[in-house]
Amino acid sequence: MPLTGPKEMFARAYKEGYAVGAFNVNNMEIVQGIVAAGAEEKAPIILQVSAGARKYAGQAYIVKLIEAALQESDLPIVLHLDHGGDFQICKDCIDGGFTSVMFDGSHLPYEENIAVTRQVVDYAHPRGVWVEAELGRLAGVEDEVSSEKSIYTDPEQAADFVKRSGCDSLAVAIGTSHGAYKFAGEAKLDFARLEKIGKLLPGFPLVLHGASSVPQDFVEMANKYGGKVGGAKGVPEDLLRKAAGMAVCKINIDTDIRLAMTANIRKFFAEKPEEFDPRSYMKPARDAVKSMVAHKIRNVLGCSGKA
Ligand code: G3H
Ligand code: 13P
Ligand code: ZN
Repeated sequence: MPLTGPKEMFARAYKEGYAVGAFNVNNMEIVQGIVAAGAEEKAPIILQVSAGARKYAGQAYIVKLIEAALQESDLPIVLHLDHGGDFQICKDCIDGGFTSVMFDGSHLPYEENIAVTRQVVDYAHPRGVWVEAELGRLAGVEDEVSSEKSIYTDPEQAADFVKRSGCDSLAVAIGTSHGAYKFAGEAKLDFARLEKIGKLLPGFPLVLHGASSVPQDFVEMANKYGGKVGGAKGVPEDLLRKAAGMAVCKINIDTDIRLAMTANIRKFFAEKPEEFDPRSYMKPARDAVKSMVAHKIRNVLGCSGKA
């Protein structure tokens, strides 16, 4: 089955009140783990590639890995650029066969964010490629862009932004952040704001970045076997389920993949110090990605059986 775009995926997710998972991929085992979970759950999947992933693996390798996954599966799979920092990277990915790109101008002045998003839209749409944009700023680090404080998305501005930029979906800031340390105190999201944005943009798909839950069993496992990820805290699953039932159609998850792999590799090394064949420790890491993603699909995103 060829790659698909997110259009029908999101239209159905919006109507039926669930979200599609967008999982960051950096290597073969991550791609395999996610796609195996999607196949088991018969769920649509978005595989997303950051600038860092392109730098690490190389765009050609990533695209070929995903082509290999497509050969073996009949799932609807979107290939998406995560946090494209300028027009050029969006263009390179569109030219390289991506079916969806994100231009992240959230750090730019408002008018400039609109102008570059519009430029990406004008290049993408004639080529049948979807464009996600971002308005508001998440705290945390993503590649080279980092922000200490979040700036929540203004609902009226979001409506104006969508109209003027022509983007197809919008990432909003309502309290999530990237990475493993999302909340110092109580975890909460601004659902009133989300509802307001949704009302001003009827039928329009919203995106939640920084949506890892930071499962505490992975944190404990990593720490037990020599890691130092104390105090890590993510978005509680019930809050994500609530957002998925609103206008949020795409939920981004990267940190949980990193934690699943690292915790299991640490455990493996501690228990079997004599092993040194990379296949011996990458296999449990890949299995951990698969079961974590299957759990998300089934119990958090609600998109089991929607492929
Ligand atoms: O939003 C950021 C994603 O977790 C990607 O992270 O830029 O380190 O690949 P990365
Ligand atoms: P997490 O760091 O919460 O996994 O967020 C990932 C993300 O938003 C990728 O764009
Ligand atoms: Zn993100």
